[in-house]
Amino acid sequence: MSTPSAGLAGIIAGETAISSVGKEGMGLNYRGYSINALAEHATFEEVAYLLTRGKLPTQQEFTAYQKKLLSLRSLPDSLKTLLELMSASSNPMDILRTGCSFLGTVEPETHEHTQLDVCDRLIALFPAMLCYWYRFHKDGVRIETQLSNESLASYFLEMLHGNTPEALLRQVINVSLVLYAEHEFNASTFAARVTTSTGSDFYSAICSAIGTLRGPLHGGANEAAMELIERFKTPEEAEEGVLEMLAHKELVMGFGHRVYRTSDPRSDVIKNWAKLLADSVGDTNLFSIAERIDQVMQREKHLFPNLDFYSALAYHFCNVPTLMFTPLFVFSRTAGWAAHIIEQRELGKLIRPVAEYTGPSSRPYVPLEKRS
Ligand SMILES: CC(C)(COP(=O)(O)OP(=O)(O)OC[C@H]1O[C@@H](n2cnc3c(N)ncnc32)[C@H](O)[C@@H]1OP(=O)(O)O)[C@@H](O)C(=O)NCCC(=O)NCCS
Repeated sequence: MSTPSAGLAGIIAGETAISSVGKEGMGLNYRGYSINALAEHATFEEVAYLLTRGKLPTQQEFTAYQKKLLSLRSLPDSLKTLLELMSASSNPMDILRTGCSFLGTVEPETHEHTQLDVCDRLIALFPAMLCYWYRFHKDGVRIETQLSNESLASYFLEMLHGNTPEALLRQVINVSLVLYAEHEFNASTFAARVTTSTGSDFYSAICSAIGTLRGPLHGGANEAAMELIERFKTPEEAEEGVLEMLAHKELVMGFGHRVYRTSDPRSDVIKNWAKLLADSVGDTNLFSIAERIDQVMQREKHLFPNLDFYSALAYHFCNVPTLMFTPLFVFSRTAGWAAHIIEQRELGKLIRPVAEYTGPSSRPYVPLEKRS
């Protein structure tokens, strides 16, 4: 038997045709398409189609898909009631996990309501769930979620802010959704595959994934990165603070990666957009603070920013509340999770590894009354 690997690092735990995180000569790609080409040219909806249906849509297929997503944006009344009942201080990731679980009781997966129907409905409805809950508790309004914005990026921003979003903001959110959509056997996707492998339903697999994404070592890192950047008033203060964190062996969120060793190819893309946004909103400080943290991490630890670091700034400049950063990751990664659920089902094999036992050796059972 092979020696165990802490955190399964470096272990090939299965095969996938959905994406590759750096197969030699290919770089990060979704079904063979480079992430740079997709981020530059594609809409999130095209990418979601590619991931869940296995191919890029033709114009006709794309129009039909977009029309379907648009038709799925109404929240069931019972779900609205639940969203109103959930407290204003809830973590938005808990709202999505609970909303997903509840939707599974109202619209369970059946032969008629297929896995692709559930997948499309969740992609269409997650932004509505979050914004309905948020605006109800923040502004005391029951927002209309059946809006006609073509893109999910525009739809989300309009529900969140209550007005038509600027083109630059829509573009940045779209790019970030493309970048976040899929990443091979990351922790949340693996959790979804494990749940799926037992023969469980689609909603259960997505709930497992959301719960796994919430942690700061995974999706929660973008929120933690923003909190870090905002902690400092100047780049000099940031340098001092990060050096102190490193001296105390604290993790600096938004840096490092389990698979990438020298850079995260998604980071440069979102960094450029974050810079454009910073200039457009007249930011003179936050971007410089982030860049200084980046420089210190490279210099002191040879660690590089992952997708979460500059995404945090980009979202911040789009006026997205920090607690919604990881939920935005959910909106996008649902497409990747769905693709893996479908692939895992086709494989039809239970995921059940073995552990190396490190507990006490065999010993006799002592009845309760004789134990001291
Ligand atoms: C992503 C992450 C979990 C990968 O973990 P990993 O593969 O177990 O990391 P490694 O074991 O290769 O780390 C090597 C060393 O770098 C350190 N390190 C890694 N990421 C670090 C970070 N963000 N800040 C400070 N030190 C870090 C580790 O503590 C370790 O130090 P040591 O050798 O002195 O023990 C880790 O980099 C991390 O926690 N990053 C911050 C959270 C984050 O941004 N998550 C989103 C990932 S996309």
